[in-house]
Amino acid sequence: MRIDHDALIVGAGGAGLWAAVELARAGVDAAVLTKLYPTRSHTGAAQGGVCAALGNLEEDHWEWHMFDTIKGGDYLTDQDVAEVLAREAIETVIELEHMGLPFNRTSEGKIDQRRFGGHTRNFGEGPVRRACFAADRTGHMILQTLYQQAIKYGVKFYDEYHVVDLLSEGGDLGSGGRSAGVVAYRIADGELHTFRSKAVLLATGGFGRMFRITSNAWSLTGDGVSLAYRHGVPMEDMEFYQFHPTGIVGLGILLSEAARGEGGYLLDNDGHRFMDRYAPKLMELAPRDMVSRAMYQEIRAGRGIDGKDYVYLDLRHLGRKLIEEKLPDITEFARVYQGVEPITEPVPVQPTAHYAMGGIPTDITTRVIRDAANTVVPGLYAAGECACVSVHGANRLGTNSLVDLLVFGRRAGRQMAADIGGVGFADLPANAEDAVRDEIEALRGRRTGESTAHIRRDLADVMMDNVGVYRDEALLTEALRKVRALAERYTRASVEDKGKTFNTDLLEAREVGYLLDCAETTVVSALARKESRGAHAREDYPERDDVTFLTHTLATRTDGGPRLSYKPVTITRFEPKPRVY
Ligand code: FUM
Repeated sequence: MRIDHDALIVGAGGAGLWAAVELARAGVDAAVLTKLYPTRSHTGAAQGGVCAALGNLEEDHWEWHMFDTIKGGDYLTDQDVAEVLAREAIETVIELEHMGLPFNRTSEGKIDQRRFGGHTRNFGEGPVRRACFAADRTGHMILQTLYQQAIKYGVKFYDEYHVVDLLSEGGDLGSGGRSAGVVAYRIADGELHTFRSKAVLLATGGFGRMFRITSNAWSLTGDGVSLAYRHGVPMEDMEFYQFHPTGIVGLGILLSEAARGEGGYLLDNDGHRFMDRYAPKLMELAPRDMVSRAMYQEIRAGRGIDGKDYVYLDLRHLGRKLIEEKLPDITEFARVYQGVEPITEPVPVQPTAHYAMGGIPTDITTRVIRDAANTVVPGLYAAGECACVSVHGANRLGTNSLVDLLVFGRRAGRQMAADIGGVGFADLPANAEDAVRDEIEALRGRRTGESTAHIRRDLADVMMDNVGVYRDEALLTEALRKVRALAERYTRASVEDKGKTFNTDLLEAREVGYLLDCAETTVVSALARKESRGAHAREDYPERDDVTFLTHTLATRTDGGPRLSYKPVTITRFEPKPRVY
């Protein structure tokens, strides 16, 4: 079936929904395609807050937020983008408030704010209250609020339409073509639909499911990133993947940094607040890369709890009232999944794969770019975690993800609305979906072959064990060999369900292919970056090397594997300095 919309948005998380609202407000015929039901999007899992220098409880300034974002990113952050983020954070949060988002309030009725890692007053002096929050379910509230707005403005939704290919006109997306639409697989009946469009926004989220222990939902498989890569768009800065310090042991489910923002401690086996050895000023509120590394160091030194691979998050001194009012969800998670009562017992935690700093390269207006010269791919946009506008550099600060998707989702909608005036629909051939149909039918039709579930499991193991918080040449080399062997196994895999109705077996098999692309580019980029910066910690190259590596990595697909090139970091105000907290 053929369907036309002026603007298409792939993904119904915060970035996609805000873009849709902007487009609809501008009178553009916009539609959202999502492989889930919209309010199941992963923005809904975000917990602790969205930061904006409102200064509601103490002095704060957008310039301080900009600086913290750059230093937090270990100076790989593009500084013009950090300025946009910090300035526009304020107006987007206030706009969300006006849309009706139920933020926690101060006694004066202002939006309440809490501390989060790496957010400081006066360019690094000490923690500042910058995270605006709705208890520990801020992302859930954002998602509900934006979905209501999208419904109010009449945005068209295609729920449970899984986008499986990107279309272009005048060449592929990476070689001069313009974006022309997408092909989507309707999950209910397995039919392929071709959507033509003048502008396409990819807002498909991250790919944390390439790791064994992750806070990411099952659906976070890098679909948009991989599809763009297969059509010639490079992946940027893939070697920077964030591990959040406090996941539920063994499961990875997030226990928000808000717990430490509200005053929670991290304790070793002796009951000692070990962060004094790593970040004496900010302690538990140091940036995540540092806290996760500190936890690994403690565990390696035998100071994990009972010598095991976790430490304690201690909230007992916060008291029942604060815990129940401000941290209700995560404390319930600890009860349900761990059988621990956080009001009276310390909670076992370990780092969990959480957030991709890398992804689809874009300019500051969210237009996708295809090379180091910043050449724009006409009609293609990306925002949210799947995008790399490079505001997080080598390590994102907590609460900067929600504000990223709000600020750049809003920018995407506005930019698309401005760009499509005067643009026509592409003249697509009648068989535009044939290439992906052939791929899908080859997978469905293979009679024998192992299940892709095994490949997914083995991939998650190698990425967790070899490409985690710490890496080195030997681990990465072995990871590359294993990931390529898995990719080879994947070409012979089959699915058990041969049907068309709600065939999640088939779709999950495709998702494994996307994860393999993300994993290979991550490992190849990490092998080449012979330094330690932010979340990329090489034990064989422990120092940051600004002479050689103050650059963004671009990984472009070739038949022989990803080809790497580099582009400069934009530095406007803050010269790189040693990163001490
Ligand atoms: O810890 C958290 O609540 C997560 C926040 C974030 O990733 O920004």
